[in-house]
Amino acid sequence: MTIFLPNEQNIRAAVDLLKAGELVSFPTETVYGLGADALNDAAVQKIYALKGRPSNNPLICHVPSIEKAQEIAEIDARAYEMMHHFWPGSITFILPLKAKSGVAKTVTAGLDTIAVRMPNSGLARRLLEAVGRPIAAPSANLSTQVTATTPMHVEKYFKDLFILADGQCSGGLESTILDLTVDVPTILREGLVTGRELSHILGQEVEVVAESKLLKAPGMMKLHYSPNLPVRLNVTQPQAGEAFITFGPVVGHYEGAYHLSPHGNLQEAAHKLYDALHMQDRPTDFTGIAVMPIPDEGVGRAINDRLRRAVGI
Ligand code: TXA
Ligand code: MG
Repeated sequence: MTIFLPNEQNIRAAVDLLKAGELVSFPTETVYGLGADALNDAAVQKIYALKGRPSNNPLICHVPSIEKAQEIAEIDARAYEMMHHFWPGSITFILPLKAKSGVAKTVTAGLDTIAVRMPNSGLARRLLEAVGRPIAAPSANLSTQVTATTPMHVEKYFKDLFILADGQCSGGLESTILDLTVDVPTILREGLVTGRELSHILGQEVEVVAESKLLKAPGMMKLHYSPNLPVRLNVTQPQAGEAFITFGPVVGHYEGAYHLSPHGNLQEAAHKLYDALHMQDRPTDFTGIAVMPIPDEGVGRAINDRLRRAVGI
């Protein structure tokens, strides 16, 4: 099994596999997911085994509507308003797990909270509608390695997987994660939906979680998104032998450089970031990967967060 175009027949095949407790990779607007029926414990366990993911790192449940989210999470007025405003979209909400939701314990790693998201990708929503069950899906990469934003990235990690393909993800970074189980809503992972947008709709400043408190999202371990080659940040002049990832205008010519956005557009850089890390990660050609400074504002905060984790700082 490998890469399948998103036609009716292949979508049906993906639905049948998911219903039968098998894994399927599918695109969302953020990154490619590795999906399983969230109500089927044995199926969810396959995700942890295939990714090499620690069992204490819970998964996000994907749903096609707020109504479906209501079957697995407790949604109060504040959460409803946020969903209504930001869904479908690149944001995951942490909410109290609904009693008797039927969600496998392995999905939430035994926590009494659950992460839910309604993706914006039309294909993902068609798939979710057709399956009729919440789909647990982490990003479709081996644990701690670089996230997949194209079908080829997914195939690099998982040769025997059914990959429903729809080109390169438009967003390119994992969803923002907002914890709504606390009085002051707290961002556990930055993403394309920024703190400023969230605060605006909430009518209250959101907090960004301190690194020391990240046990709440055990997946936020420091070394993550890591290529094989060492990564150096804030480099304006790469060393001989280093691959270069640039942002904004570049003076001079650097052989084999990957330009994230010559015009300095942060959305474009987010869209391309993981592809750049995949492309430049060639130990036979380079000694390391040097990355130009990226402004730490708006979406740049999420980009820098992923880059710091790629380095392990
Ligand atoms: O964009 C995305 O969010 C992608 C696509 C496929 O939807 N998914 C994704 O999943 O990035 P993953 O597994 O790579 O990251 C999920 C994060 C983990 O860091 C995990 O710790 C956190 O969500 N998480 C899940 N359930 C949680 C919970 N109940 N409380 C706190 N954090 C939770
Ligand atoms: Mg991930």
